[in-house]
Amino acid sequence: MSNKPRVLSGIQPTGESMQLGNYLGAVQNWVQMQDGYDAYYCVVDLHAITLEPPEPEALRQRTRIVAAQLLAAGLDPDRCALFVQSHLPEHPQLSWVLECLTGFGEASRMTQFKDKSTRAGADRQGVGLFTYPILQAADILLYQADQVPIGEDQRQHLELTRNLAQRFNARYGDTFVVPEAFIPKAAAKILDLQDPTAKMSKSRPDAGTIYLSDPASVITRKIKRAVTDTDGEVRYDPEGKPGLSNLLAIHAALTGASVEAVAKEFSGQGYGALKGAVAEAVVAFAEPFAARSQELLDDPAELDRILARGAERARAVASVTVADAYAKVGFLPAAVG
Ligand code: TYM
Repeated sequence: MSNKPRVLSGIQPTGESMQLGNYLGAVQNWVQMQDGYDAYYCVVDLHAITLEPPEPEALRQRTRIVAAQLLAAGLDPDRCALFVQSHLPEHPQLSWVLECLTGFGEASRMTQFKDKSTRAGADRQGVGLFTYPILQAADILLYQADQVPIGEDQRQHLELTRNLAQRFNARYGDTFVVPEAFIPKAAAKILDLQDPTAKMSKSRPDAGTIYLSDPASVITRKIKRAVTDTDGEVRYDPEGKPGLSNLLAIHAALTGASVEAVAKEFSGQGYGALKGAVAEAVVAFAEPFAARSQELLDDPAELDRILARGAERARAVASVTVADAYAKVGFLPAAVG
């Protein structure tokens, strides 16, 4: 067993590719944290059926696509456990216990639930969307994660997770590590290029979202058409100039510079110059990334072996946590033989 601190995070297999916000808000940190942490990363396919469920074959394909993209982004199966959530029944097993500790009002206050259920119409929505954040808490607590690298939109779910860990620990004795959110500074919320009041998301129109599978010409066009403002001054001001600040944040996150440094570099130049440089930085990342993802997808048997190995490593931790939590709750152990 490693004595490094532990990290866990997850991503949904929705759509045919991850979008730039997924990478800059979360996955980039997953890659960086592989060395300093005992790292567990999960493609959360159980979460992907909480809205309109995809066709079964599409779900299988999307799960492989996200796994391949995570590897292309730099996850190394020798330095982290990369696995698929549905391969571990421990996730719903722990989730049930946590559901029984969650208040109805508490779950109703989750803003993502409110947004998504309003969009779909509350009565058409499955109960899974309501309990979704509790399954997410189980994902995290099962691995006794110290840190959870996520974007800003997941902060409230992490707060719920912390509350549930503390509640369980207070009732049944010390069982779960209370995790911390690990949220990047400037890239915490990458915004939609057409509507910089909203986060970039797969559920929004294509023109405002950069998919990492987009060809170079499409990426460049989307960035050149990004909505900014009319005062013409390059300055990092997320409140007053959200569209422009978003471009600075994208450039900074991709090049490892600070937003202030990028703003300084482009100050005095027109927005066109900045857009050109942002487009170049995104394409320089996305092109080799897409080629590497495709190579991995061309060998699904190898991909499945990597995921099986990841699941085995994940199970070694998750099964111990579930057994401990179930014993503490008072479930009778299953007799052997
Ligand atoms: P998901 O699949 O929507 O997104 C994966 C990660 O990408 C981040 N993200 C963003 N960051 C910055 N700007 C954006 N525009 C942007 N869009 C997405 C998300 O914050 C997330 O970190 N509920 C989670 C999946 C999940 C999970 C977990 C995460 C399930 N179990 C356990 C962490 C730990 C979700 O839907 O992420």
